[in-house]
Amino acid sequence: MSYRTFDSSEIDHQQTYRMLIGSIVPRPIAWVSSISSDGIPNLAPFSFFTMVSHFPPMVSISVGEREHSMKDTSRNILETKGYVIHTVVNGWEEKMNASSANFQPDEDEFIAINLETVPSDLVDAPRLANAPVAMECTFDRIIDFGDDWVTHLVIGKILRWHVREDLLLDDKYIDPHKLAPVGRLGGPRYCRTQSIFEMTAPYVQPDKAHPNDPV
Ligand SMILES: Cc1cc2nc3c(=O)[nH]c(=O)nc-3n(C[C@H](O)[C@H](O)[C@H](O)COP(=O)(O)O)c2cc1C
Repeated sequence: MSYRTFDSSEIDHQQTYRMLIGSIVPRPIAWVSSISSDGIPNLAPFSFFTMVSHFPPMVSISVGEREHSMKDTSRNILETKGYVIHTVVNGWEEKMNASSANFQPDEDEFIAINLETVPSDLVDAPRLANAPVAMECTFDRIIDFGDDWVTHLVIGKILRWHVREDLLLDDKYIDPHKLAPVGRLGGPRYCRTQSIFEMTAPYVQPDKAHPNDPV
């Protein structure tokens, strides 16, 4: 079997991006609502998204720049601190994609793409009405990477989850079958969660288990 190698020190930014989005898959999509200091709400998707700590529950999104300026989402989060991350699920893809258009900072994406909001409980940014899962977050820190191509890693703490009642199993777990999350692949490709399988975890002595261990 033959392989090609790609050294990050030798490939340009475009090929580096292609390698990242093709090899780190599927990616969850954070659909982020934020608000400017002038009170203009904003909505945009980010698939450079993950959890970075379990307790406290910290999450990160990596936000690139547009023409060497911060995108509205990162600027808003730095300005007003509070934001809401929604899980993207079947049926919401088109609106999610529409919200990634290059709207002007004074444009309200919720109005532009006809999405209803409800006030959040703990932060100023609104949340999407009827979103199956929404996480109210507060800004913690920002870490910048790159010179020509700057990325802002925005880390925040989840303050409160809003989970639609019918998605809960035993009032504890979020049922992935009912949630039906959508993932991002390379380029314009996405995937649905249609084929879920289970695997019994290797035995871990319960008294030695870390909360991440599958006991
Ligand atoms: C599925 C999807 C995932 C995206 N992921 C990212 C990402 O991780 N980082 C990023 O900077 N832009 C990402 N984008 C592009 C932003 O959504 C887009 O630049 C948007 O206009 C930013 O909006 P804002 O200026 O209102 O913050 C993604 C777009 C789509 C459709």
